[in-house]
Amino acid sequence: MRPDTPPKNPTRLANYQPYDFIIDAVALDFDLDPESTTVTSTLNVRRREGVDPQAPLVLDGEEISLVSIRLDDNPLAPDRYQLDENTLTIKDLPNKFTLHIVNTCSPATNTSLSGLYVSNDMFCTQCEAEGFRRITYYPDRPDVMSVFTVRIDADKKRYPVLLSNGNPGETGETTKTGETKDGKHFAIWHDPHPKPAYLFALVAGDLACVEDHFVTRSGKQIPLRVFVQHKNKDRCDFTLDALKRSMKWEEDVYGLEYDLDVFMIVAVDHFNMGAMENKGLNIFNSAYVLASPDTATDADYEIIEAIVAHEYFHNWSGNRVTLRDWFQLCLKEGFTVFRDQEFSADMRSRSVQRIKDVRRLWASQFPEDAGPLAHPPRPDHFYTIDNFYTTTVYEKGAEVVRMLKTLLGEDVFLKSCDQYFERHDGEAATIEDFAKVMEDISGRDLTLFRNWWTRPGTPHVTVSEGTLGPEGGTVELKQETSTTTAGIDAEPRHIPVGYALVGASTGDVRGTGLIELTEASQTIEIKPDTPADDGSNEPLIVSWLTDFSAPVVLSSNQSLDDRLTLAAHDPDPFNRWSVVDGLWRDLCQTAAGYNRGIDEEEALNGLCAALDRSVLAALDALEGTRGVQGAIDASFVAQLLAAPSASDLTRGLDGFDPAAIVDGRSKIRRVTAERIGGTLLSAYERLTSDAPYEPSAEASGQRGLKNAALGLLVEAGRADLAEAQGLSSRNMTDEAAAAAILATSEHPDAVPAREKVLGAFYDKWKDDALVVNKWLGWNAQQPDANALSHVQRLAEHKSFDIKTPNKVRALFGVFSNANLKGFNAEDGEGYRFIAEQISRVDSLNAQLAARMTSAFEPWPRLKQPLRSLAQNALASILDREPSTNLKEMVERLLKE
Ligand code: TRP
Ligand code: ZN
Repeated sequence: MRPDTPPKNPTRLANYQPYDFIIDAVALDFDLDPESTTVTSTLNVRRREGVDPQAPLVLDGEEISLVSIRLDDNPLAPDRYQLDENTLTIKDLPNKFTLHIVNTCSPATNTSLSGLYVSNDMFCTQCEAEGFRRITYYPDRPDVMSVFTVRIDADKKRYPVLLSNGNPGETGETTKTGETKDGKHFAIWHDPHPKPAYLFALVAGDLACVEDHFVTRSGKQIPLRVFVQHKNKDRCDFTLDALKRSMKWEEDVYGLEYDLDVFMIVAVDHFNMGAMENKGLNIFNSAYVLASPDTATDADYEIIEAIVAHEYFHNWSGNRVTLRDWFQLCLKEGFTVFRDQEFSADMRSRSVQRIKDVRRLWASQFPEDAGPLAHPPRPDHFYTIDNFYTTTVYEKGAEVVRMLKTLLGEDVFLKSCDQYFERHDGEAATIEDFAKVMEDISGRDLTLFRNWWTRPGTPHVTVSEGTLGPEGGTVELKQETSTTTAGIDAEPRHIPVGYALVGASTGDVRGTGLIELTEASQTIEIKPDTPADDGSNEPLIVSWLTDFSAPVVLSSNQSLDDRLTLAAHDPDPFNRWSVVDGLWRDLCQTAAGYNRGIDEEEALNGLCAALDRSVLAALDALEGTRGVQGAIDASFVAQLLAAPSASDLTRGLDGFDPAAIVDGRSKIRRVTAERIGGTLLSAYERLTSDAPYEPSAEASGQRGLKNAALGLLVEAGRADLAEAQGLSSRNMTDEAAAAAILATSEHPDAVPAREKVLGAFYDKWKDDALVVNKWLGWNAQQPDANALSHVQRLAEHKSFDIKTPNKVRALFGVFSNANLKGFNAEDGEGYRFIAEQISRVDSLNAQLAARMTSAFEPWPRLKQPLRSLAQNALASILDREPSTNLKEMVERLLKE
């Protein structure tokens, strides 16, 4: 039987009870050895006031071995405690006592990457959510907060760097009792801020340290240290730069300073997620630390900047104010994603940031909310909390915070955040605490608003009018929520709906406003801000949902003419983009055989005209100003040129045919490229430059536009351009863009070019694991009929390793999520193969295996026989003794 036998009952929010004991301080001593590490834990414990004096102390512990227990310096008799598979229960305790527990764990054989493990001969930890119990016996829950002191003893040669949370203390070469010990050294770390166990971290290894510093606004100089393998020490500059900008932004916008004497980031190659906000010692997946112009793309730089900021911002939203229980996860994650999105918006282009954030929401969160895995941002029960690190908790959670900012206004919102950090500093808080502060400061009633946290599903909003008369008019707005799991919501939500009025013939902006929808149906008067004083009697087009003011699906009937007017004149850049995105969407779906009620030829003309005009305008801006504004336009236009992804185009479709969607999309891209090819080519040529790579928003925007143009040009038969770029580029952005375009292109000329460019790429980069992961992903994305056999061959290739999550994601993740034709092959072999690989991964890393199942999320919406084939492949996982994590996901996915 598997070690982690499924628990019978889920953990329920309604059953929350505070812990019976308070742990004032914990001292942890580690004697590091890959095969068997000894952990000695000393806990200063008090019974909470009012708790039954008979109540035992219950500690969590998983896959560790107990060596000894002493209570207040006396060995504890065996009848005083009981050791079960996952708990250590100690009875007959006084109200105040000290407990010494010695246990061992085995880092070298820990492939789950949770707890203490070894990656490239370096010790590291991952404790969120429930990994600390795999290190020592402890109340592993976020509301038990304690002051940690850590001593690490290890071989000095092999592990010269010894790190833990907080501030550095004594170091030396002696044992605890004072004698020198052969080849060993030690370091002591003390973290003065009480913290839950999930924020604990330890690192030991032979690492290079790249150092910089930041001076806080109160004048304290904080050393900033990034620890990486020696070969990577030239790839840390951008991370340090992003960190300093994050620290400054946090002070400027939220008034929050750093609170320890040193801040550290460590890069590890084996990591289940992006990064982890351990107090003072963030641990990162090395893919989100290491960057140099020749190995990282603009997209890599951008995501490194965002993740560095995200983890740094957790120091307040997550660490100083932590969580009462795991149901509150989106209190730290949704809020921190919102904060990192705003940081990125301030660092780069605000409107392009918003477009990217909404694209991600549409591509992953909307389908999650419409499928079998739908859940509220704050769920009310779970079997395995690891399975709730979802796009709903993160990205929808961020949208919920964003709506609060919209409803309260930026000033009141920021003031409320101040108050939240002040009121709950040092506490383990709830979403209710957050909502309450917002109510107290704003004086507003957020009763209905709370439904956003507690209900699943994407609300549908219907507006009765898309166009009004010259004097405005009456609009009826209706909201309803339906999801497969939740049915129809009885109670409405509080939905902010922004709008603008645009003159139908002049394109003039005639008014803007915000409607607060709080009822199932509401009738609203909308009037222009200014009368049409020039006597023009033009109708007013309503541009709905300004800046995507709420995570809803909004339907209105708007004529193609009106949509095209908005594409040119909408005062909100997000909505200008979203009209163009809607045209791409309607055209691709129409070409795939779905009736979108549009005239294909007229819509195509409109789309091409809008794109052509926008590209030329971006080029003009570059010629004219060469300034930041021009470059921002370039990145915006790159977004206009990028059609929705094939998987995003399946959103909202029932019984869909993946191959038809892919073909419809590629047809529309080809026709568009043929029609505006001249403009695309001049943009491509104008933007091709020999200037040395610079990761700035401006330069990256220009590369983005150039490569978006290249992507379309290849569909129009110019694979030669991508081949030349792929073989000659001197920065990874251009090199990777060419390779990715050729790898995914459906044009026949792309096939030979793809072989040359991917072959050359591998030869050039085969010794660089992170770069080779890109190559694995492109191979997995190839649209040809043999995609599966490529992936099967690569699974045996020396560049692949099933124990490295980045590689599993690059090969199996990309194939199953982004290669619609390959994964959804008619014979069901794609499903069977991925299901088998999920089981293989599961025996090593249950968290990763469980996450891989999301590729099957669309199965109920597939056409037959794909639907049954996918369902059967999923069900087969249950026949292969899945872990608790994996079993929970498969069962939720199969529940109809
Ligand atoms: N808290 C981390 C973040 O903000 C998430 C995380 C990192 C995580 N590693 C994990 C969650 C392992 C579960 C398991 O991004
Ligand atoms: Zn986070």
